[in-house]
Amino acid sequence: MNSKYAPIGVFDSGVGGLTVAKEIMRQLPNERIVYFGDTARVPYGGKSKETITKYTKQIIRFLQTYDVKAIAIACGTVSACSLEEVEKELDIPIIGVLKPGSEVAVDKTKNKRIGVIATESSIHSGMYQKYIQEIDHQIQVFAKACPLFVPLVEEGLWEDPVTTEIARRYLQELKEQDIDTLILGCTHYPLLIKTIGDVMGDDVTLVNLAYETAADLKKLLESRGLLNVAATEDYEVNYRFFVSDVADKFRSFAESILSDVKFSTDTPFITKQINIEAF
Ligand code: DGL
Repeated sequence: MNSKYAPIGVFDSGVGGLTVAKEIMRQLPNERIVYFGDTARVPYGGKSKETITKYTKQIIRFLQTYDVKAIAIACGTVSACSLEEVEKELDIPIIGVLKPGSEVAVDKTKNKRIGVIATESSIHSGMYQKYIQEIDHQIQVFAKACPLFVPLVEEGLWEDPVTTEIARRYLQELKEQDIDTLILGCTHYPLLIKTIGDVMGDDVTLVNLAYETAADLKKLLESRGLLNVAATEDYEVNYRFFVSDVADKFRSFAESILSDVKFSTDTPFITKQINIEAF
Protein backbone atom coordinates (compact mmCIF):
# COMPACT_ATOMS: atom_id res chain seq x y z
CA MET A 1 0.00 0.00 0.00
CA ASN A 2 1.40 3.39 -0.98
CA SER A 3 1.67 6.18 1.57
CA LYS A 4 -0.66 9.13 1.67
CA TYR A 5 2.29 11.34 0.65
CA ALA A 6 2.59 9.53 -2.69
CA PRO A 7 1.30 11.40 -5.77
CA ILE A 8 -1.94 10.86 -7.63
CA GLY A 9 -1.64 9.76 -11.25
CA VAL A 10 -3.89 11.64 -13.66
CA PHE A 11 -4.05 11.08 -17.40
CA ASP A 12 -5.81 11.94 -20.61
CA SER A 13 -5.18 11.74 -24.34
CA GLY A 14 -4.13 15.40 -24.27
CA VAL A 15 -4.90 18.69 -22.58
CA GLY A 16 -8.54 17.93 -21.69
CA GLY A 17 -7.57 16.13 -18.50
CA LEU A 18 -6.10 19.37 -17.22
CA THR A 19 -9.68 20.41 -16.47
CA VAL A 20 -9.78 17.50 -14.00
CA ALA A 21 -6.23 18.09 -12.71
CA LYS A 22 -7.18 21.69 -12.00
CA GLU A 23 -10.15 20.63 -9.88
CA ILE A 24 -7.95 18.15 -8.01
CA MET A 25 -5.50 20.98 -7.29
CA ARG A 26 -8.37 23.09 -5.98
CA GLN A 27 -10.23 20.47 -3.96
CA LEU A 28 -7.21 18.46 -2.78
CA PRO A 29 -4.56 21.17 -2.37
CA ASN A 30 -2.07 18.97 -0.48
CA GLU A 31 -1.83 16.31 -3.15
CA ARG A 32 1.03 15.85 -5.57
CA ILE A 33 0.08 15.04 -9.13
CA VAL A 34 1.85 13.16 -11.91
CA TYR A 35 -0.03 13.95 -15.12
CA PHE A 36 0.36 12.25 -18.46
CA GLY A 37 -1.10 13.63 -21.70
CA ASP A 38 -0.81 11.32 -24.70
CA THR A 39 -0.31 14.18 -27.14
CA ALA A 40 1.36 11.97 -29.76
CA ARG A 41 -1.73 9.75 -30.07
CA VAL A 42 -4.60 12.19 -29.42
CA PRO A 43 -7.48 11.93 -30.29
CA TYR A 44 -8.54 8.62 -28.74
CA GLY A 45 -12.20 9.24 -29.46
CA GLY A 46 -12.48 7.36 -32.77
CA LYS A 47 -10.18 4.47 -31.83
CA SER A 48 -11.17 0.91 -30.93
CA LYS A 49 -11.64 -0.31 -27.37
CA GLU A 50 -8.61 -2.62 -27.83
CA THR A 51 -6.31 0.22 -28.88
CA ILE A 52 -7.54 2.53 -26.14
CA THR A 53 -7.05 -0.22 -23.52
CA LYS A 54 -3.53 -0.93 -24.82
CA TYR A 55 -2.63 2.77 -24.50
CA THR A 56 -4.25 2.90 -21.05
CA LYS A 57 -2.16 -0.01 -19.77
CA GLN A 58 1.04 1.62 -21.02
CA ILE A 59 0.14 4.87 -19.29
CA ILE A 60 -0.72 3.13 -16.02
CA ARG A 61 2.63 1.31 -16.10
CA PHE A 62 4.36 4.66 -16.64
CA LEU A 63 2.45 6.33 -13.77
CA GLN A 64 3.31 3.43 -11.47
CA THR A 65 7.01 4.18 -11.90
CA TYR A 66 6.17 7.22 -9.70
CA ASP A 67 4.54 4.99 -7.06
CA VAL A 68 1.21 6.75 -7.43
CA LYS A 69 -1.23 5.97 -4.62
CA ALA A 70 -4.32 6.31 -6.83
CA ILE A 71 -5.20 7.04 -10.44
CA ALA A 72 -7.80 9.42 -11.83
CA ILE A 73 -8.66 8.71 -15.45
CA ALA A 74 -9.24 12.26 -16.64
CA CYS A 75 -10.62 11.08 -19.98
CA GLY A 76 -14.19 10.18 -20.81
CA THR A 77 -13.17 7.86 -23.60
CA VAL A 78 -10.80 5.79 -21.45
CA SER A 79 -13.33 5.75 -18.60
CA ALA A 80 -15.98 4.44 -20.99
CA CYS A 81 -13.87 1.92 -22.88
CA SER A 82 -11.14 0.66 -20.56
CA LEU A 83 -11.84 1.35 -16.86
CA GLU A 84 -13.73 -1.89 -16.22
CA GLU A 85 -10.88 -3.96 -17.64
CA VAL A 86 -7.91 -2.19 -16.06
CA GLU A 87 -9.40 -1.80 -12.57
CA LYS A 88 -9.49 -5.58 -12.20
CA GLU A 89 -5.72 -5.70 -12.60
CA LEU A 90 -4.80 -2.87 -10.23
CA ASP A 91 -4.13 -2.94 -6.51
CA ILE A 92 -4.49 0.83 -6.07
CA PRO A 93 -7.75 2.80 -6.31
CA ILE A 94 -8.69 4.06 -9.77
CA ILE A 95 -11.55 6.37 -10.66
CA GLY A 96 -13.09 7.40 -13.98
CA VAL A 97 -15.17 10.44 -14.93
CA LEU A 98 -18.37 8.83 -16.20
CA LYS A 99 -19.94 7.68 -12.96
CA PRO A 100 -19.53 10.96 -11.03
CA GLY A 101 -20.83 12.91 -14.05
CA SER A 102 -23.83 10.61 -14.53
CA GLU A 103 -24.80 10.82 -10.85
CA VAL A 104 -24.85 14.60 -10.90
CA ALA A 105 -26.86 14.71 -14.11
CA VAL A 106 -29.48 12.42 -12.57
CA ASP A 107 -29.58 14.72 -9.58
CA LYS A 108 -30.02 17.85 -11.70
CA THR A 109 -32.62 16.77 -14.26
CA LYS A 110 -36.21 17.71 -13.54
CA ASN A 111 -37.86 16.51 -16.74
CA LYS A 112 -35.84 13.24 -16.86
CA ARG A 113 -34.38 14.06 -20.27
CA ILE A 114 -30.58 14.13 -20.22
CA GLY A 115 -28.31 14.83 -23.16
CA VAL A 116 -24.75 13.49 -23.39
CA ILE A 117 -22.10 14.76 -25.76
CA ALA A 118 -18.82 12.87 -25.97
CA THR A 119 -16.43 11.21 -28.38
CA GLU A 120 -17.59 8.51 -30.80
CA SER A 121 -15.99 5.72 -28.77
CA SER A 122 -17.61 6.93 -25.54
CA ILE A 123 -21.06 7.21 -27.10
CA HIS A 124 -20.67 3.87 -28.86
CA SER A 125 -19.81 2.18 -25.52
CA GLY A 126 -23.30 2.96 -24.16
CA MET A 127 -21.76 3.46 -20.70
CA TYR A 128 -23.41 6.80 -19.97
CA GLN A 129 -26.83 5.30 -20.65
CA LYS A 130 -25.91 2.33 -18.44
CA TYR A 131 -24.79 4.43 -15.46
CA ILE A 132 -27.76 6.82 -15.71
CA GLN A 133 -30.43 4.17 -16.17
CA GLU A 134 -28.99 2.05 -13.36
CA ILE A 135 -29.82 4.97 -11.06
CA ASP A 136 -33.20 5.83 -12.64
CA HIS A 137 -34.50 3.74 -15.50
CA GLN A 138 -37.21 6.29 -16.30
CA ILE A 139 -34.65 8.80 -17.49
CA GLN A 140 -34.29 9.17 -21.25
CA VAL A 141 -30.75 9.70 -22.49
CA PHE A 142 -30.04 11.44 -25.79
CA ALA A 143 -26.45 10.87 -26.87
CA LYS A 144 -24.52 12.68 -29.56
CA ALA A 145 -20.92 12.15 -30.66
CA CYS A 146 -19.05 15.39 -31.40
CA PRO A 147 -15.78 14.19 -33.00
CA LEU A 148 -14.55 17.63 -34.08
CA PHE A 149 -14.61 19.13 -30.60
CA VAL A 150 -11.38 17.48 -29.38
CA PRO A 151 -9.26 18.64 -32.36
CA LEU A 152 -10.74 22.14 -32.01
CA VAL A 153 -9.72 22.23 -28.35
CA GLU A 154 -6.25 20.86 -29.09
CA GLU A 155 -5.88 23.63 -31.70
CA GLY A 156 -6.82 26.25 -29.12
CA LEU A 157 -10.04 27.30 -30.94
CA TRP A 158 -11.99 27.47 -27.68
CA GLU A 159 -13.98 30.56 -28.61
CA ASP A 160 -14.04 30.93 -32.36
CA PRO A 161 -16.74 31.34 -35.04
CA VAL A 162 -15.75 27.97 -36.53
CA THR A 163 -16.32 26.25 -33.19
CA THR A 164 -19.65 28.02 -32.73
CA GLU A 165 -20.84 26.88 -36.15
CA ILE A 166 -19.85 23.26 -35.50
CA ALA A 167 -21.44 23.37 -32.05
CA ARG A 168 -24.71 24.63 -33.58
CA ARG A 169 -24.78 21.72 -36.02
CA TYR A 170 -23.93 19.07 -33.41
CA LEU A 171 -26.27 20.36 -30.72
CA GLN A 172 -29.36 21.16 -32.80
CA GLU A 173 -30.83 17.66 -32.47
CA LEU A 174 -30.35 17.70 -28.68
CA LYS A 175 -32.11 21.05 -28.47
CA GLU A 176 -35.04 19.53 -30.33
CA GLN A 177 -35.26 16.74 -27.70
CA ASP A 178 -36.13 19.20 -24.94
CA ILE A 179 -33.35 18.06 -22.62
CA ASP A 180 -32.89 20.08 -19.43
CA THR A 181 -29.41 18.72 -18.55
CA LEU A 182 -26.39 18.15 -20.76
CA ILE A 183 -23.35 16.13 -19.70
CA LEU A 184 -20.11 17.42 -21.19
CA GLY A 185 -18.98 13.81 -21.47
CA CYS A 186 -15.43 14.46 -22.58
CA THR A 187 -12.90 16.26 -20.43
CA HIS A 188 -11.87 18.49 -23.33
CA TYR A 189 -15.36 19.98 -23.55
CA PRO A 190 -15.31 22.24 -20.46
CA LEU A 191 -12.86 24.34 -22.46
CA LEU A 192 -15.74 24.96 -24.89
CA ILE A 193 -18.26 25.62 -22.13
CA LYS A 194 -18.99 29.17 -23.19
CA THR A 195 -19.71 28.17 -26.79
CA ILE A 196 -21.79 25.14 -25.78
CA GLY A 197 -23.67 27.15 -23.14
CA ASP A 198 -24.48 29.93 -25.64
CA VAL A 199 -25.82 27.41 -28.15
CA MET A 200 -27.87 25.41 -25.61
CA GLY A 201 -29.29 28.45 -23.78
CA ASP A 202 -29.85 29.18 -20.09
CA ASP A 203 -32.53 26.54 -19.51
CA VAL A 204 -30.12 23.64 -19.94
CA THR A 205 -27.81 22.75 -17.03
CA LEU A 206 -24.32 21.78 -18.18
CA VAL A 207 -22.57 19.05 -16.18
CA ASN A 208 -18.79 19.36 -16.03
CA LEU A 209 -17.15 16.02 -15.19
CA ALA A 210 -14.07 17.63 -13.68
CA TYR A 211 -15.63 19.04 -10.52
CA GLU A 212 -17.54 15.87 -9.66
CA THR A 213 -14.59 13.59 -10.34
CA ALA A 214 -12.31 15.53 -8.00
CA ALA A 215 -15.00 15.45 -5.30
CA ASP A 216 -15.39 11.67 -5.70
CA LEU A 217 -11.63 11.17 -5.69
CA LYS A 218 -11.46 13.01 -2.37
CA LYS A 219 -14.10 10.72 -0.87
CA LEU A 220 -12.33 7.65 -2.23
CA LEU A 221 -8.95 8.68 -0.77
CA GLU A 222 -10.56 9.53 2.56
CA SER A 223 -12.25 6.15 2.75
CA ARG A 224 -8.92 4.38 2.14
CA GLY A 225 -6.95 6.56 4.58
CA LEU A 226 -4.94 7.94 1.66
CA LEU A 227 -5.95 11.60 1.73
CA ASN A 228 -3.06 13.94 2.46
CA VAL A 229 -4.81 16.35 4.81
CA ALA A 230 -1.94 18.69 5.65
CA ALA A 231 1.42 19.45 4.12
CA THR A 232 4.34 18.90 6.48
CA GLU A 233 7.61 20.81 6.59
CA ASP A 234 9.60 18.33 4.53
CA TYR A 235 6.80 17.76 2.05
CA GLU A 236 6.28 20.05 -0.89
CA VAL A 237 3.30 19.88 -3.20
CA ASN A 238 4.47 19.50 -6.78
CA TYR A 239 2.94 18.78 -10.14
CA ARG A 240 4.79 16.89 -12.87
CA PHE A 241 3.45 16.83 -16.40
CA PHE A 242 4.56 14.33 -19.01
CA VAL A 243 3.54 14.20 -22.65
CA SER A 244 4.29 11.84 -25.52
CA ASP A 245 4.96 14.63 -28.05
CA VAL A 246 6.45 18.13 -27.99
CA ALA A 247 6.20 19.63 -24.53
CA ASP A 248 6.13 23.33 -25.48
CA LYS A 249 2.62 23.43 -26.91
CA PHE A 250 1.28 21.49 -23.95
CA ARG A 251 3.07 23.79 -21.51
CA SER A 252 1.46 26.90 -22.93
CA PHE A 253 -1.99 25.28 -22.76
CA ALA A 254 -1.32 24.18 -19.19
CA GLU A 255 -0.24 27.69 -18.21
CA SER A 256 -3.44 29.11 -19.62
CA ILE A 257 -5.80 26.46 -18.20
CA LEU A 258 -4.14 26.55 -14.77
CA SER A 259 -3.60 30.33 -14.74
CA ASP A 260 -6.07 30.99 -11.91
CA VAL A 261 -4.80 28.20 -9.62
CA LYS A 262 -2.86 29.46 -6.61
CA PHE A 263 0.35 27.45 -6.38
CA SER A 264 2.30 27.13 -3.17
CA THR A 265 5.73 27.24 -4.89
CA ASP A 266 7.32 29.49 -7.51
CA THR A 267 7.95 26.66 -9.95
CA PRO A 268 4.75 24.71 -9.68
CA PHE A 269 5.23 22.38 -12.56
CA ILE A 270 7.67 20.83 -14.96
CA THR A 271 6.73 19.43 -18.37
CA LYS A 272 8.69 16.70 -20.10
CA GLN A 273 8.36 14.56 -23.20
CA ILE A 274 8.68 10.79 -22.75
CA ASN A 275 8.46 7.73 -24.97
CA ILE A 276 5.25 6.06 -23.83
CA GLU A 277 5.69 3.17 -26.28
CA ALA A 278 8.52 1.94 -24.04
CA PHE A 279 6.09 1.10 -21.22
N1 DGL B 1 -10.51 14.09 -23.05
C1 DGL B 1 -10.83 12.89 -23.77
C2 DGL B 1 -12.22 12.40 -23.37
O1 DGL B 1 -12.66 12.75 -22.33
C3 DGL B 1 -10.63 13.14 -25.22
C4 DGL B 1 -10.73 11.93 -26.07
C5 DGL B 1 -10.01 11.99 -27.36
O2 DGL B 1 -8.79 12.02 -27.32
O3 DGL B 1 -10.67 11.93 -28.39
O4 DGL B 1 -12.88 11.68 -24.01
